[in-house]
Amino acid sequence: MKVLALGLVVSALLTGSAFAQGDAAAGANVFKKCASCHAVGEGAKNKVGPELNELFGRVAGTAPDFKYSQAMTDAGAGGLVWSSETLHQFLTKPKDFVKGTKMSFPGLKEQADLDNIVAYLQTFSTAPADAAAPAEPAAPAAQ
Ligand code: HEC
Repeated sequence: MKVLALGLVVSALLTGSAFAQGDAAAGANVFKKCASCHAVGEGAKNKVGPELNELFGRVAGTAPDFKYSQAMTDAGAGGLVWSSETLHQFLTKPKDFVKGTKMSFPGLKEQADLDNIVAYLQTFSTAPADAAAPAEPAAPAAQ
């Protein structure tokens, strides 16, 4: 039994390290770059930019009571949904990914900052990282 248990631990560690998961705690620090314009967390309100709760799975440009640019509204109408992947793309260079956006932010250059801010924002969403992807079938029960 002990051998089996050890094997499970080792395989869990190996599986975990196979993903470049961001560090949400470090992402809180990166969020300081966003906080002049965005709020997230309990009671978050729209500021210069929309509040970012339940961002994963949100169709771009659809937070209630926020006046978006035509570009962001069009991007949402065109099918842009926020997920780990689309957030990475947008936050690398917002004005390249959504041409005409009124978000005045040059983008994050460090890959770690991108991974960490996305992990941080995900802690305020109930939807999974790949929110835009079709739902996966439920995992089979552990043996
Ligand atoms: C100078 C102000 C400013 C800063 C700094 C800023 N944003 Fe924004 N952000 C905005 C505005 C304004 C919009 C709305 C854009 C539009 O309508 O084109 C926006 C839109 C967004 C959206 C789209 C939300 C939606 O509802 O579709 C996301 C996601 C986002 N910002 C994330 C971030 C993150 C993460 C950071 C920090 C790395 C950041 N922003 C920094 C002003 C800012």
